[in-house]
Amino acid sequence: MKIKNVVVIGSGTMGSGIAAHLCNANIPVTLLDLKTEISEKARERIHKSRPPLLIDKSKINNIKVGNISDNFDVVKDADWVVEAVVERIDVKHQIYEKIFKARKDGAIVSSNTSSIPIKVLSEHLTDSEKKDFCITHFFNPVRYMGLLEIVKNENNDLNKINQLKEFCEIELGKGAIVCNDTPGFLGNRVGVYAMQIAMTEAFKMKLSVEEADAIFGRPMGIPKTGVFGLYDLIGIDLMADVLKSFIKELPETDEFHEVAKEIPLVKKLIDTGYTGRKGKGGFYRVNKTGETKVMEAINLETGDYSPSKKIDLKSDKVDLKGLIERKDKYGDYAWSVISKIIKYASSLVPGITKEFNDIDEAMRLGFNWAKGPFEMLEEIGVNNFFDKIDDYSGNNFLEDLSKTKNEDFYGARQKYTNIETLGKVKKTASSLDGNDSAKIYRFNDYNIVEFTTKANALDYNSMDALKKATDKPLIIINESMQFSAGVNLTYTMQFADKNDFKSIEKFIKYFQETCKHLKYSKYPVISAPSGLTLGGGFEVMVQSNFVASHTNIVVGLVETIVGLIPAGGGCKEMLARWLDTNEAKADPDYASLKVFDIIGYGKTATSPVEAAPMKYLRSNDKKIMNRNSLLEVSKEILRENKDFVAPNELKFNLPGKAVLGKMDKILQKLYNDKIILDHGVVVAKELAHVLSGGDTTIDKILSEDDLFKLELDAFMRLIETPKTQDRIRHTLATGKPLVN
Ligand code: NAI
Repeated sequence: MKIKNVVVIGSGTMGSGIAAHLCNANIPVTLLDLKTEISEKARERIHKSRPPLLIDKSKINNIKVGNISDNFDVVKDADWVVEAVVERIDVKHQIYEKIFKARKDGAIVSSNTSSIPIKVLSEHLTDSEKKDFCITHFFNPVRYMGLLEIVKNENNDLNKINQLKEFCEIELGKGAIVCNDTPGFLGNRVGVYAMQIAMTEAFKMKLSVEEADAIFGRPMGIPKTGVFGLYDLIGIDLMADVLKSFIKELPETDEFHEVAKEIPLVKKLIDTGYTGRKGKGGFYRVNKTGETKVMEAINLETGDYSPSKKIDLKSDKVDLKGLIERKDKYGDYAWSVISKIIKYASSLVPGITKEFNDIDEAMRLGFNWAKGPFEMLEEIGVNNFFDKIDDYSGNNFLEDLSKTKNEDFYGARQKYTNIETLGKVKKTASSLDGNDSAKIYRFNDYNIVEFTTKANALDYNSMDALKKATDKPLIIINESMQFSAGVNLTYTMQFADKNDFKSIEKFIKYFQETCKHLKYSKYPVISAPSGLTLGGGFEVMVQSNFVASHTNIVVGLVETIVGLIPAGGGCKEMLARWLDTNEAKADPDYASLKVFDIIGYGKTATSPVEAAPMKYLRSNDKKIMNRNSLLEVSKEILRENKDFVAPNELKFNLPGKAVLGKMDKILQKLYNDKIILDHGVVVAKELAHVLSGGDTTIDKILSEDDLFKLELDAFMRLIETPKTQDRIRHTLATGKPLVN
């Protein structure tokens, strides 16, 4: 059956997220709730959501809304009905009775429950109804979380489950993993266990909240919210409910019981309204006295709060081996937590799934971990793991592995999908090259470069890897969350702090040279961005010959916000795009002014649809819903461009001083309205100088190198100013812009 029409019942957090995402996939969807006002409000929330749930906000009215009394007729036409009402079995049972009376024959009905087993949900259904009923467990926020667990049991029609999986994979772009009806399914069973073990070990080993979060975070390839930060984000009370449901469902012999015991401090927090960020605070809280806000953390022994301390582990790399080898309490904690997660996850094979790598994938797509437990085991090394581990009796997976000690136990990756993903292909590279900031995977007929730094920030080494990899067709793509958040500002400031501006100049020149090389080398270069594609990351993308973009990107040139201007070719390429318009042919100032507006404000787009009107993306750039498909699409581009010839170099006719008066006028107004301050004017004037073409007139032709030179000189003048350095330091310390 083709899914062409969907009804979502329950318009809360999840129902509205699911409806929005169906709208993203251009699937007609109706959102029903108890009252139409509730679903109307949900639609307003979708429209205002940040980060936006919609790829294209103008499509908001494609989501129809209504209520379950007057508008239930829509269910008759639906190919799929998704139930996302409150987590109460009585309410869900009532809704199913109504749905199955109204649905068309064979339509799929699913629940978004996070904890109720199918056998309980479907207990009142007939056998033929049970065939079409399953759980589709989406994660919040639906647009951004890659995981979708499709839970089935022995009553299901497997053909139908597979059709649903294919629809969710291809049309909705989800990593759809089919799994058995076991408590918490795959992701939450392991993810919640991991959180509990990270928390209980921190109590036991007397680590502070900040210390635990510093380790159970970036160095382990886990999002920086860590464990206590994540607890606060989810809601401490909600986590307590989740634990209760696990305790109810899991047999007493399950290790989960050990880590789910009530902790007096946690109970006290809930009882006193400290339920996390939505409450008065949680393990962390913001203490406001007058104008000042201080982030505080709780002392796990005394329950008192004091100003939160930054923990410096002296490394910002994901480095499991290094972490567990540390001869300090951090190393002990890391080993204890990681080894227990590996033990627990492996104890679930084959009970919850026979494919252990489905568990890894669930952790990556549902919890944003860089690696799942089995990949962690692979990285630590099987022999190394067994040298360190004490007891694993009763764990069949580990007992078997201890006999073979096979370091290559992992085998094929991402078995849940037929798509040729980066994760699968990487392991088959004919050789590996690269450096600390980027890896080069070499294949017979093409190369892949994957950036590997924090947020994939770019430095000299990143450029070196790109340049080296252009000896064949090249695909720039990665598995981590961001394509690249831009040039590594910490790296840049290390030189600035020593007044070593020559080194900064050398780096920027190399950046420019590399980007030019990407664009004009003999072989095609493809960028396949997902996530942040900002500043220098955008400049790499825009100077690639082809782009295959995920629909979840945040793209733009944001340099002015830190008091700089794009100097890796960003100004040049944006000018070229805007010069290539009819308006620019009629008006010599048009392109310069347009780009001045876009870069001056550091405008960003949160989807290809938003990127198009700013020309951050072009109409012929590919836009793809399923991130897993980026590599296949990139390879397709390579196949279609076997006879690739590098483009001709661009030429620019720019107005020079003639346009500066108009730009000055804009700046004067912004300054008078106090939207920008003194340094804002300095930065904007440098940008104006570059975008006007400098000392030129409209009849003169400028080359790309001329534009690169203008960018470089302006960048160097700005980076040497104390106020730009203040902006950068401030942003590095707080993540926020400084207006000066
Ligand atoms: P919510 O509380 O935000 O929304 C529930 C909605 O259902 C409300 O708008 C309510 O008015 C509506 N509702 C209640 N009874 C109804 C009925 N008889 N007919 C129609 N609508 C009715 O809940 P949320 O968070 O969206 O959760 C929905 C489901 O998704 C639950 O089963 C939950 O366990 C599950 N879930 C929640 C996740 C989350 O992060 N919030 C993640 C994954 C699953």
